[in-house]
Amino acid sequence: MVVTTRSPIRSSVGLKAVMAVTGIVLVLFLIAHMLGNLKIFTGQTSFDHYAHWLREIGAPLLPGVWFLWILRTVLLVAVLAHIGAATTLALRARAARPVRYAHRRPVQGSYAARTMRWGGVIIGLFVIYHLLDLTTGALNPVGDPSRPYANVVADFAPDRWYVTLFYTLAVVAVGFHLRHGAFSALRSLGQQTPRGERRARAVALVLAVALCAGYLAVPFAVLTGLVD
Ligand code: HEM
Repeated sequence: MVVTTRSPIRSSVGLKAVMAVTGIVLVLFLIAHMLGNLKIFTGQTSFDHYAHWLREIGAPLLPGVWFLWILRTVLLVAVLAHIGAATTLALRARAARPVRYAHRRPVQGSYAARTMRWGGVIIGLFVIYHLLDLTTGALNPVGDPSRPYANVVADFAPDRWYVTLFYTLAVVAVGFHLRHGAFSALRSLGQQTPRGERRARAVALVLAVALCAGYLAVPFAVLTGLVD
């Protein structure tokens, strides 16, 4: 008899824990980033000052932009582990059913649950565009990393409505993805009862709607001239 040993983290339960832990890291980033973006309503000086402060967190203990690079590394590792665990789990689920159903069963689960994979791909493409737009400035009409307020205002100007549209689609994709992810994680952690499940569903929905509203407030404020 051949006995194969697999490290606990590579078991399906271990991989789901990786999804949950990395998901929590990413949600914490999303909440912090949304709160930071909302500072745009406090004016140009305050917003730019906040962005410069981000580059100095940890000083004088840590030199220069170290904290930012530590944060970036943590985010990148979390994203890669999240995608890696999701892909392994999906491939395992497929391997467990090598012959597909001859007749598709009626689609089950919420819209969010069925769009996790493509939603994840859209979010990935958005993040690449977003970094080239507002971090490096390569795709931004102003494109000056030292003037984030001016970059954001130029980005969502009314004649660039298609940029706002793309951001809106991406943020809604983040909302759906988060709603299902948070629901799954909360359901696993909380009471496995219909009441516990209802509560998990409600918390996940509130979190997703609040994040979507917070993120979309910025482009729409610029588009409508509230922020200029
Ligand atoms: C409409 C909503 C958003 C606005 C207005 C916005 C704005 C910005 C700005 C201005 C920066 C540059 C900050 C700086 O360098 O000082 C930035 C960076 C970033 N944003 Fe967003 N963002 C939005 C949505 C998102 C979403 C939904 C995600 C993730 C799914 C995201 C992920 C990031 C990341 C990873 C960075 C780079 C952080 C770094 O390493 O410096 N953003 N965003």
